[in-house]
Amino acid sequence: MSDAVSVIRARLPNAAPKLGLILGSGLGGLVDEIESATRLPYTELPGFPHSTVSSHAAELVIGRLAGVEVAVLAGRVHAYETGEADAMAKPLATLKGLGVENLILTNAAGSLHENMGPGSLMLISDHINLSGRNPLIGVEGDQRFANMVDAYDPVWRSRAMELAKAEGVTLREGVYGWFLGPSFETPAEIRMARTLGMDAVGMSTVPETILARFHGLKVMAISSITNLGAGMTGDALSHHETKDVGATIVPQLTKLLRAVVADMAAG
Ligand code: HPA
Repeated sequence: MSDAVSVIRARLPNAAPKLGLILGSGLGGLVDEIESATRLPYTELPGFPHSTVSSHAAELVIGRLAGVEVAVLAGRVHAYETGEADAMAKPLATLKGLGVENLILTNAAGSLHENMGPGSLMLISDHINLSGRNPLIGVEGDQRFANMVDAYDPVWRSRAMELAKAEGVTLREGVYGWFLGPSFETPAEIRMARTLGMDAVGMSTVPETILARFHGLKVMAISSITNLGAGMTGDALSHHETKDVGATIVPQLTKLLRAVVADMAAG
């Protein structure tokens, strides 16, 4: 058992979350939706990384969402902060150690489609990793050859699309491309990304999905679109936009997540 798991068990002996959530840039407001929350700063959890991004809290929150016990990683550490793709290895191993079986990832992303503009939500159907990095590098044993077919669970995806419709939330589906960052893409890279079949681009999620699949967790991931990709409008890109637009999407995303979480627990 990892040390972080022992620390959490000492604080919350009865905690048994089956569902984990990771909240992306500007989406930390979702934490306020967690009832009966116990907040554990990453600094109190051995081996947890320190986030250096201004829009990210850094705490593990255990509580209830839509009546379901959840463990929320509010604040991710990105590969661009250290150069290491396995920055989230310990938090993911800790979720697994707590008994989490299912994981919902959220992120902020740039859209590659004019008609999927800022404020849109995109369910990730698959990803493309052109970063040359992988969080399982250095892991030993055959488990490292993690299967990535249906990495984003197809049954959950179709259920999420149905639930979004029922809730009146517009949800698109598409391929997420991981760019290492932290600089934004160039317009030429965005044109390349479109040609290669990406629908949105961002700087996170892919390493966490790989780690989650390594641990055998089921994954669902939703991008909140904060901007169109570089060069698609006359505007420069900035992290302010990511934070501000991210925050405006929170009500729609919350509505969808509540429905999804309740449905997962029921079924
Ligand atoms: N590119 C990469 N990451 C992002 C973007 C983007 O345009 N928007 C939000 N996160």
